[in-house]
Order: sequence, then C-alpha cells, then structure tokens
Amino acid sequence: MQIYKVGGAVRDRLLGKPVTDIDWVVVGATAEEMLAKGFRPVGADFPVFLHPKSGEEYALARTERKSGRGYGGFTFHASPEVTLEEDLIRRDLTINAMAEDDQQNLTDPYHGQRDLEDRILRHVSPAFAEDPLRVLRVARFAARYAELGFKVAPETLELMRQLSESGELEALTAERSWKEISRALMESQPQVFIQVLRDCGALKVLMPEVDALFGVPQPEVHHPEIDSGIHTLSVLEQAALHKQPLTVRWACLLHDLGKGLTPEEEWPRHIAHEHKGLKLIKAVNERFKAPKDCQELALLVGQYHTHGHRALELKASTLLELLQSFDVYRRPQRFEEFIVACEMDARGRKGLEQRSYPQADYLRGAASAARGVAVQPLLEKGLKGPELGEALKRERLKALKAYKESASS
Ligand code: CTP
Repeated sequence: MQIYKVGGAVRDRLLGKPVTDIDWVVVGATAEEMLAKGFRPVGADFPVFLHPKSGEEYALARTERKSGRGYGGFTFHASPEVTLEEDLIRRDLTINAMAEDDQQNLTDPYHGQRDLEDRILRHVSPAFAEDPLRVLRVARFAARYAELGFKVAPETLELMRQLSESGELEALTAERSWKEISRALMESQPQVFIQVLRDCGALKVLMPEVDALFGVPQPEVHHPEIDSGIHTLSVLEQAALHKQPLTVRWACLLHDLGKGLTPEEEWPRHIAHEHKGLKLIKAVNERFKAPKDCQELALLVGQYHTHGHRALELKASTLLELLQSFDVYRRPQRFEEFIVACEMDARGRKGLEQRSYPQADYLRGAASAARGVAVQPLLEKGLKGPELGEALKRERLKALKAYKESASS
C-alpha cells in the first residue's frame, strides 16, 4: 500500500501556513489490511480509519457517486484498484486536490500548485456538484485567503450559481451549514464569505433576510455608504479587524435585518427597524440552529443597537431598562459583547472606521454603577421576593441618576 498526505495539509504547507490537521489517503489497500495493522474504523461502512497512535485520519482511496439528494445520497466505492488520481478528482478545489508522499513528492494532476500561485479557487471537476456544502466551503476559503489575494474562478462561481438555483442547498442540514458559517465568520475577512455567497446567488437561498438588505438605502448623514447590505459587510469587517468572538460577529451580521422590511416609500428612513427585525433574526437563528449565546446576542443587539448609539442621551430609567434586559448583573460579559457590537456598527460606515465611540465607556460605567448596588443591606432590612426586586430597582435607578450627573459635570 502507498500512503499520501492530502488536502489541507499539503495546501497549507505550500502556502507556508501552519498545518494543524493531517489527512492521509491510502492507495492499494483493503479495509481488512488496515484493521490488521491496528487502524480503528471510523464508521461501519465508511472507508476511513484512525491511526492507532496519532489518531489521524487515513481514508482508503475512493470514488464517490451521488445517488440521491443531500449529503446522505452518496455511494462510495473503495477498493485497492482505485488510483490516487481517481481519489483526487472527486475533491472540491484544485488546491485541496494535491497529494504528497513521505519524500514530499507532489502528485498534482489537476494543477493545484499553479492555482495556488495564481491565487485561484477553482473546482476540480463536475463532481464538485455532488456536495452542495462546497458552495459554502468555497466562500469560506475565499474569506480565509482573501488576504493573500485569492479569488473564485469564474467557472467555479458559475457552477456555484447553478447549484444555488437547483434547490440543492435546501437539502443541507442545519448542522453542516452552521459549521461552515461559524468557521467562515471567524476567518480574517468574513465579509468576503457573505459577498461570495451573494455573488453566486446562495445568499438568497440561505439567508434571504441578509440578501434583502442590498439595494436598500439609509440616510447618508449617518451612513455615507448608503446601502444597508454594504453597511452590514463593513460591520462584519470591523468585527473581524477587532478580533471579536463569534457571538459578536453573528450579531453584527443580523443586526439590521429589519431594514429589509421597510416599505420603499419610507426609504431612506427605517422607523422601528430594530423591533421589526426581531422575527427575521429569530428565523435565521432557528434555520441554522445557532448556539444559544449567538441567538441571544443577535436578538438583543438587533433590538437595542440604537439605544447603544444614543447611550449618552438616554434617561436613567431607560438605561436601567436596558441593563435589566441584558440581565447585566448575572451576565456582564453579554452586555460587554453588546457594547462592542454597537461600536462595530458605528464604525462599519464609509469613512467613519476610525471614529471614537464614547458610548462604549459610558455604557460600561453605567453597568458598573448599577452592579455596584449592594443587595446585602436590603436583605438585612428583611426585604425579599418582589419587594426586594423593586427596592433593588429603585437603588439602581438612583445610582444611574448619580452616574449620569457625574458623567455630564
Ligand atoms: N473535501 C471535499 N469536499 C468536502 C469536504 C472535504 O472535497 N465537502 C476534501 C478536500 O480535498 C479537503 C479534504 O477533503 O482538502 C479535507 O477536508 P477538511 O478537513 O474538511 O478540509 P481542509 O481542506 O483540511 O481545510 P480546513 O483547513 O478548513 O480544515
């Protein structure tokens, strides 16, 4: 049997990037031979094994044929006769379809190395269409390697467009899609992920609520970029530049969905878009079964981001309501994530990327003033239940009034 390194490990070594996961392909072996060498099978009828010591994945060279819709609809053919070239041709991108032996000799029948040098994400063969998840994968690689100048090849974008129109994307499970989306959002240029999905028509299928923002104008005084979709991309870009976590990036992507619902005659104003957007945010959250912390932050940022921008003008009672809505006493981190999402929203505007955002520290100060109210003295007075809650609220309001005064003097 011959063993080769394949996929991301070869690609990333040639790019001079750190290699974390190594995938191997085994040519000329049977499952029985692998078991005899101590490899552990990954699944009952899937020709992938784990190395007894390293735990790395070793897959028998295989061909795949699509036999139905969605990811389940595959039949595999793994046998010692399947060649390395046959295994490589069923893979997604040329840059992912190279193999390397233990002497670092490259097998590159589909010119992945040339495409790496030319900075092109190109599909290997029509077999690309067999797994619709690859539409998201290509967009994710585009987001990851945008900083190196990679672009999607026109013919690959065309194939992605056909796949998006074919209805195949609807067959993807929430789990597989979310895995790609969440990884893509954590790349260095997540806005490129959304842009590529839009360019091939996949955004309209996966997140029509985000797609609908493009072409919707906003008032130029606050938004020199005008277009709501462009603004959303810029907010996401800022979130990545500021190394924000997934929760914040997800909230940034969804914060303005309500603007897509504004009747044209009201443009460029978007009255109550925060509230109108909530049902759309909920729908997107649920479609991809986003983790609870992502769901919650997206809804809260959607509802309250304009409060964040107007923080300095808010009455003490409104500030208190805001802090209560976030349950800032038990969940201080979530409020901090809200603050930075608002800041990204303020900076994700053309020419305003470097603006200062005094609202952030002001809100932090308000949170600590309210959190500074001690419960113990109220308990000592014998208060409990709803009475205790009311008394706490009164004390916090007092603290916020004092905070507002001290901040304005
Ligand atoms: N692959 C594919 N189609 C998929 C998933 C994977 O063709 N839908 C192939 C590609 O050749 C890929 C390899 O399997 O390089 C390994 O896949 P995976 O580990 O998911 O990705 P990597 O390319 O290693 O990329 P990453 O750095 O994102 O893990």
